[in-house]
Amino acid sequence: MSLDGRISTRAGDSRISSQDDLVRVHALRARMDAILVGSGTVLADDPCLTTRLVDGPSPLRVVVDGRARTPPGARVLDDGAPTVIYVSRKAPSGRVAALQEKCDVVVLGEEHVDLAAMLDDLDARGVRTAMLEGGGGLNAAMFAAGLVDKVHITVAPFVIGGKDSVPLVGGDGVTSVDDAPHLELENVEVIGAEVLLRYRVQRCD
Ligand SMILES: NC(=O)c1ccc[n+]([C@@H]2O[C@H](COP(=O)([O-])OP(=O)(O)OC[C@H]3O[C@@H](n4cnc5c(N)ncnc54)[C@H](OP(=O)(O)O)[C@@H]3O)[C@@H](O)[C@H]2O)c1
Repeated sequence: MSLDGRISTRAGDSRISSQDDLVRVHALRARMDAILVGSGTVLADDPCLTTRLVDGPSPLRVVVDGRARTPPGARVLDDGAPTVIYVSRKAPSGRVAALQEKCDVVVLGEEHVDLAAMLDDLDARGVRTAMLEGGGGLNAAMFAAGLVDKVHITVAPFVIGGKDSVPLVGGDGVTSVDDAPHLELENVEVIGAEVLLRYRVQRCD
């Protein structure tokens, strides 16, 4: 994210990370069983979500896509790695059928994808480690559902600003700081012009 917590400009420019940080992220992906993104990220960036910048396996690609808006030609559906798309019962059947020709599609939840049930389904597929890579809407929903264990953030030396840029965590936000997920700082690393922050999410229970 930028210093002011943005992950994309209002015009959709999300090239926040340096090349060195992208390589680090690809190496981290290679150690994961799955990578998760929301449909907004697929529509905005058309990412491959593979480990093409490093040697190592590409994990399962997961798209959280309530309304099945992922285009059948999206790069996340190429043969670079297996993909599963989670949709809700709101997804139009025609779009679901088109995606089923390309990958595994799982229906979970009424209005939105049931995120806890999604992680249970991934667990049943053998997924033990999953890395959420955004965007802001899905980040917010995963925090709100209490499903985030660790946060690794690279702060890039930019200030993007603007009310229409994309925040790291979207949604409605909390009204009281008491209700905010609290993080325990594990590690700070300065890498060139960027700062990598590693946190553990504190549990209230
Ligand atoms: N700089 C970076 O590292 C980085 C990384 C990733 C993304 N980005 C940027 O982030 C932006 C995309 O963020 P975004 O917030 O628009 O989209 P997003 O978080 O990628 O996806 C949001 C979508 O997820 C779907 N969803 C499914 N189940 C959900 C649930 N239970 N709760 C919440 N959402 C659910 C919703 O679609 P339905 O309503 O259809 O369910 C929602 O519209 C892009 O501009 C991208 O460039 C930047």
